[in-house]
Amino acid sequence: MKLVYANWKMNLPLPGAVEYAKTLFRATEEEARRTEIVLFVSHTQLFPVSAVVQNTFLRAGAQDCSRFEEGAYTGEVSAAMCAAAGATAVLIGHSERRKYFGEDEQCLANKYALALKAHLEPVLCVGETLEEREAGRVEAVLARQLQALEAQKLLPERLLIAYEPVWAIGTGVNATSEQIAEAHGLLKSKIEYRFGRTPLVLYGGSVNPANIEEILDTENVDGVLVGGASLKLETFLPLVKAAAARDTKTA
Ligand code: PGA
Repeated sequence: MKLVYANWKMNLPLPGAVEYAKTLFRATEEEARRTEIVLFVSHTQLFPVSAVVQNTFLRAGAQDCSRFEEGAYTGEVSAAMCAAAGATAVLIGHSERRKYFGEDEQCLANKYALALKAHLEPVLCVGETLEEREAGRVEAVLARQLQALEAQKLLPERLLIAYEPVWAIGTGVNATSEQIAEAHGLLKSKIEYRFGRTPLVLYGGSVNPANIEEILDTENVDGVLVGGASLKLETFLPLVKAAAARDTKTA
């Protein structure tokens, strides 16, 4: 089964978000059984969106959670609060969090641990910048970004990683199949070697209806994390359908 995760970022204000979730549910009742769809929404959308997707095959997730558990941290939203608002998963370390909010490996390790404590499924986001790729540092960067896993006392059975090269996010230039297969292969072998289990690795970065088939058919790709193309049903539905179609093939 291929995973199709939507990262709405700071878009789709209410009530549009609720309408979106309702329409998505109606339009994918069949496909949703053959793929796994999570909508990563902003904190204020969590409660209403999760109410819509409750008892369906769709899930709601948070885009971030605090690195603190609770207390005097004005403006923060804890992992437990996300879970209470209906999230079942959380993105950890999206490159926009790393870039604009200075999140480093220690901060992300704390978030990862608190997500697990709150019974949220963490999706650890990793990926190199263009500069790092051109300097031949992809492997070193990915290894460093896996430190959040190293720091955990106990890891979940199902490990989720999103490989999102920074230069492919929101640029319209997706990574090639070779680049994706190589990076995902590296991530899988490093995690297998270190933790004894094979992670599910999603690709993110300018996924759209035109490239979804090729990306999903690329070696080592377990699904996609989609930003821009997840904001409109006309571009998101074809991605869900492509993923569901691949499940029939392997059934
Ligand atoms: P994009 O974003 O699909 O708009 O490139 C992906 C992401 O940032 O998760």
